[in-house]
Amino acid sequence: MKLIICKNYDEVSAAAAEIVADVMKANPACVLGLATGSTPVGMYKKLIEKNAAGEIDFSAVTTVNLDEYYPISPDNDQSYRYFMNENLFNHVNIDKARTFVPDGQASDPVAACEAYEETVAAVGAADIQVLGIGQNGHIGFNEPDTALEVKTHVTGLTESTIKANARFFASEADVPTKALTMGIGTILGAKKIIILANGAAKHDAVSKMLAGKLDTSCPASMLNLHRDVVVVCDEMAYNG
Ligand code: PGA
Repeated sequence: MKLIICKNYDEVSAAAAEIVADVMKANPACVLGLATGSTPVGMYKKLIEKNAAGEIDFSAVTTVNLDEYYPISPDNDQSYRYFMNENLFNHVNIDKARTFVPDGQASDPVAACEAYEETVAAVGAADIQVLGIGQNGHIGFNEPDTALEVKTHVTGLTESTIKANARFFASEADVPTKALTMGIGTILGAKKIIILANGAAKHDAVSKMLAGKLDTSCPASMLNLHRDVVVVCDEMAYNG
């Protein structure tokens, strides 16, 4: 894993945006694997600025997102589809028909996961997959467990993730208890991966990931199997 340690969140966002922009410049018809959560918001702001300045062009880009709550409507302001529209897609010259997020309101969530896995395969390996990391080491909604899933699947959220995400909802009871998420194998199918982390609350998870072992109690540690991973974190996440 390549490690970039930044002074603060703004530097994390700028460094991550540079890496994504470089991929877009090298291949204007690239596939971007995207993530939600508070961490990548700053990176998306910088990508919007670069798009407005004419430095990067989204017109031929395809995106695949990691995950979505279940059940949730795309119009719900806490859905990840809504998040992506608000934080990136509505502000850049992307064709929304080429932006994919798992279907949070599918009547058959298992079939929706199978269909999503096929979509990810059909658009081709992501040129870069952006990830955040949960305080518990999750990536996407692959939560710590004795065994991890390989493909896109329906999953229950752990108590710790529900608590961590409750800040975005009216109350903890409003946080959906399930999600559809790419599996570890789906994520590892990307050509390049960047994982962003800031703040001391991420220190334990980042340390476990950087320890270099495959530990299912820290799903992010599975990234050690990939040849091209860049960890972009701030000093707090690195040092605690
Ligand atoms: P956060 O979430 O960016 O809101 O901290 C990260 C994650 O859970 O993957």
